[in-house]
Amino acid sequence: RTGVVTLPVVVHVVHNPQAPEQNISDEQIHSQLAVLNKDFRAANPDVRNVPDVWKPLVADARVEFRLATRDPHGEATDGIVRVETERRSFTWDDAVKAGATGGADPWPSDQYLNIWVCLLGGGLLGYAQFPGGPPQTDGVVILHTAFGTTGTASRPFDGGRTATHEIGHWLDLYHIWGDDDGACSSDDKVADTPNQAGANTGKPTFPRVTCDNGPNGDMFVNYMDYTDDAAMYMFTRGQATRMDACLEGSRASFLV
Ligand code: ARG
Ligand code: ZN
Ligand code: CA
Repeated sequence: RTGVVTLPVVVHVVHNPQAPEQNISDEQIHSQLAVLNKDFRAANPDVRNVPDVWKPLVADARVEFRLATRDPHGEATDGIVRVETERRSFTWDDAVKAGATGGADPWPSDQYLNIWVCLLGGGLLGYAQFPGGPPQTDGVVILHTAFGTTGTASRPFDGGRTATHEIGHWLDLYHIWGDDDGACSSDDKVADTPNQAGANTGKPTFPRVTCDNGPNGDMFVNYMDYTDDAAMYMFTRGQATRMDACLEGSRASFLV
């Protein structure tokens, strides 16, 4: 693929009227779209902070995001759906993804990237469904205080990177440590991300060596680690290739 793929996005704001802050502003939503359109084009200003050894690996994923201008019936829309709920909060059980369980039904997930924004419990910032799963739960869910860069967005997750990370999963990327809990035995199936032991958090200092990955160590500046928003700023070429394969394969309905 040489061109840029533009993904139509619908944001479902699922909010409880007793907690009006959950009904985030259009401005907060637009601030998230702006971050995505930088991060997936390697146009984010903080890419300059990538350690020199990894600068040659920084990739433009050639994916852009635009709030839908047509709803599933062909009517004009701003790509934002606001739904009231009686639920106080949600979790990873997908209840937010259906009107019948207090959430909002998705728009056809072969045509739209569905993003649900709500209050999530248990310290969960967000979660994603990988390609190939059930269409009625396809998309990503983001905690409203970790969404966008203004309004209710709260430090240290006010850089819009939770959505960048979750959409990375939605495009088939695994965590860079391979989800093996320190064993160093499994990786993310991407050759140019060093194998690392476990998730990094906060703002680590370079280099952080684990799993015999010296001298450069863990690529904790990668969006698919768990560091703070202000400490993650890149996808690699290998990750871009994997996202590309997803868009040529199981998510090819977005290429037309
Ligand atoms: N699924 C992860 C979680 O809920 C998201 C991590 C996002 N990291 C970030 N810096 N925004 O913990
Ligand atoms: Zn993740
Ligand atoms: Ca790897």
